Amino acid sequence: MVGCAGAARVGDVAQSIRIGLIGCGVVGTGILRLLRDHAGSIESRLGAPLDIRRIVVRDASSARDEVVPRNLLSTDAQALLDDSEIDIVVEVMGGVSRAGELVRAALERGKHVVTANKALLAEQGDELVTLAEARSVDLYFEAAVAGGIPIIRVLREALASDQVVALRGIVNGTSNYILSRMQSEGSSFEDALREAQAAGYAEADPTLDVNGGDACHKLAILATLAFGARVQPTDVPTEGIESITAGDIEFAKRFGFVIKPLAVARQVLGASSPEQHSTKLDLRVHPALVPQDSVLASIPGAINAVHIEGAMLGPCVLSGPGAGALPTAMSVVSDIVDVGRNLLIGAHGRVPSRAFRGDRLKTIPIQDAGDHRSRFYLRTMVRDEPGVLAAIANVLGKNHVSIEQMFQDGSDTPVAVVMLTHEARERDVTAALKQIDALANVVSAAQAIRVEH
Ligand code: HSE
Repeated sequence: MVGCAGAARVGDVAQSIRIGLIGCGVVGTGILRLLRDHAGSIESRLGAPLDIRRIVVRDASSARDEVVPRNLLSTDAQALLDDSEIDIVVEVMGGVSRAGELVRAALERGKHVVTANKALLAEQGDELVTLAEARSVDLYFEAAVAGGIPIIRVLREALASDQVVALRGIVNGTSNYILSRMQSEGSSFEDALREAQAAGYAEADPTLDVNGGDACHKLAILATLAFGARVQPTDVPTEGIESITAGDIEFAKRFGFVIKPLAVARQVLGASSPEQHSTKLDLRVHPALVPQDSVLASIPGAINAVHIEGAMLGPCVLSGPGAGALPTAMSVVSDIVDVGRNLLIGAHGRVPSRAFRGDRLKTIPIQDAGDHRSRFYLRTMVRDEPGVLAAIANVLGKNHVSIEQMFQDGSDTPVAVVMLTHEARERDVTAALKQIDALANVVSAAQAIRVEH
């Protein structure tokens, strides 16, 4: 849909694009720094300067970076919403409830919105985009997924003529940082998490980083844009990285793999026919073993990467900083420039927020997690008694899970029995592990990690 944003406004904004900023933490401060340092080049690209008019924060008296204009700070969100001169509201406060109220209120007042809030978009994106369309304004969110990587724009614009077949990504920098540090430096999980927090990568509540919740939100957004389907976070089976031990990282290496925090979305065609109605979506967030020589294995530290397989394009990888003040601010401000361009020509909705027109979004059935097939890394801790390996192998065999490689590690009891299976159905592996955990000489619940190629 392309429409006129109002002649009076178009005339006004030729002077400047007026912005109200909600939130001035790590990302908000990054936005202000970028706007200061790149003001000239942005104006040359846009044809008008970007002008921050108001900044709403929780506490206007707390210490701020020198780049923050203190005279613009206020705790009064209502005044920002009621300010008829503000063209674009930029929401970088985070959280769902209050941020959702403010974004809704801004859209209702006919203000364009740029947000970096993945949780809000994943949970309420459908409602908010519908509201934006009804009010003839833009709602853009490049920074919500993979920080500085322009993945939303690629799915929305560059791949407009293609069909995404599969998408696999490392979209949580904190968990990639933790696993990378555990692997390369032998850091403990806790130390690596503290470093990620100190570097500003982690969420205010880092539980969402390590339990997969943050990646789940991002995958729901990516899958919606990639497949033109309504995907909710509750559609995505999600596991975090909390249970990964230094031993798992070492054992995976012996098999030729690296453990990475993955988010996967792929189309699975029905066995009997490639027809649209038999297509399902395989959606997953979990740590996975990836081959040491694969692209995703080489993505270090807090860096993010998304590997896309397009039906026409083939494989394509985008990689870069997925978190941090300036990369995230860069994506936010590029969205502001995009909205500003629309404002200056009196347009909106030229490119649908979710890549597909809202009235064409589909509901694609989600594949049952138990139907997923892959190789599995299995580790179980056992008392080193005669017959224990045979008992484990017997249970796996009875459940149609075939062992490809197996070794025992350790001399003190308990010892680790570590296996790599041939491709197996997840439902069968789960059933087998339940029986293995109940065996006499098994001392703790087995670890199972999927292998992703
Ligand atoms: N906590 C997020 C991460 C920040 O670690 O990736 C960017 O969304």
